[in-house]
Amino acid sequence: MWPCRLCLIKRPRIRCNMNSFLFRIFINDRILLKNYCSNELARSIKILGVETSCDDTGIAIVDNTGAILGESLHSQTPTHISFGGIIPPIAREFHRKNITDVCEQALKNAGLKLRDIDAIATTVKPGMPLSLMIGKNFGKYLSRIGNKPFIPIHHMEAHALTARMKEEVNFPYLVLLISGGHCLLALVESVTKFHLLGSTMDDAPGEAFDKVARRLKMHNIFEYRNKNGGAAIEMAAKKATDPVQFEFPPTMPHYRDCNFSFSGLKNSAFRQIQKLEIDLNIMADEIIPDINNLCAGFQLAVAKHIANKTKRAMLFLDNENLIPNENRTLVVSGGVACNNFIAKVLGIVSDQQNYRLVRPPPQLCMDNGVMIAWNGMERWKINAGVLRDPREIEEIDHQSRAPLGDDWTSRIKKAHIQCSIIKTKDIYST
Ligand code: KG4
Ligand code: ZN
Repeated sequence: MWPCRLCLIKRPRIRCNMNSFLFRIFINDRILLKNYCSNELARSIKILGVETSCDDTGIAIVDNTGAILGESLHSQTPTHISFGGIIPPIAREFHRKNITDVCEQALKNAGLKLRDIDAIATTVKPGMPLSLMIGKNFGKYLSRIGNKPFIPIHHMEAHALTARMKEEVNFPYLVLLISGGHCLLALVESVTKFHLLGSTMDDAPGEAFDKVARRLKMHNIFEYRNKNGGAAIEMAAKKATDPVQFEFPPTMPHYRDCNFSFSGLKNSAFRQIQKLEIDLNIMADEIIPDINNLCAGFQLAVAKHIANKTKRAMLFLDNENLIPNENRTLVVSGGVACNNFIAKVLGIVSDQQNYRLVRPPPQLCMDNGVMIAWNGMERWKINAGVLRDPREIEEIDHQSRAPLGDDWTSRIKKAHIQCSIIKTKDIYST
């Protein structure tokens, strides 16, 4: 007699027999599920995810089919726009004030109570420490009062795996994560195994978008007043009459690696704005006349830089035979992945390199509770990092910095891959 690992009732164990009460499932000779009774396997599993790594308070419940049963998100964007950036203690207070309501709303939307949930997944790294702390404490609290397993989640792993919720994306695949806090390329080998191919050496692209939008005083323009910097720049760029009026130098053209840098582009934008303001005698809250063209030029330079580095990552994976032909997939996620122009440029590179481009819907690219719940579900399915011992759960702490997987950046540099850069005319001719 063996206890079922979920319902804990002892039942006779019979291998691979769906009519039995307790069984093991073997796939390719590997035991995937051990000692579960058939009642448990038939039942849908529900994981609640908690996200507070930056300025969004997100909670959601997903089931094992990838269905979103309920979700709720409180965004602090309008407040941070009015302050000119995220102020960590203010972000913490918003999380603290809203997290209970957000949780109640998510459960209500799902028509569920805490007792119906199988486990609590929570972002514990990386992120802003004051923000992470609120979610971590709340997730642990739910786990304690509901007597539920706790699944600590790495925010970037969650971004990288979200695409698997709705689409068939098999391991290994290439992922590009572009957001307000991060920029990285990685090879995703499994739910728990990642290889970092490159990351940003200074600003993240979303951060550069936010700072340039702020410098352009876009929050003073009615239609952009509540938009984040990236969304505002994308909207303005669409209205450009001459997207190459402003020149931005190519970024790191001689570095044969997959690392990124956005501070040079940001500073170049700052310099060009300042020159226009002086030349045209622009005062206080006034806006420069060529704002749409400047936004388009900046967005184009960011898109080309991201695409060039992604192309080198694809060439590296080819040279080293790291992706089977049928897996040639680029997943792009993170807030900046909402940008349709950047997605278009990535689409051009993907077509050239014979890759399939997968981009989750915008609400799943931005920070949210769903991706955390889904990462919890992926871990639940393979029983990786699902903590059940209350003492072990209590010891889990948050970490502001946490690398994604093992570092292959020097391996890329050593490969010294030459890579032709994407041309502006190729972008505008498609
Ligand atoms: O992933 P996310 O919600 O939070 C972080 O982990 O950073 O990303 C937020 C970032 C912001 O910097 C915002 O400016 C950027 O994503 N963003 C965009 C767009 N929408 C959001 N950047 C470019 N184009 C967009 N449409
Ligand atoms: Zn994020």
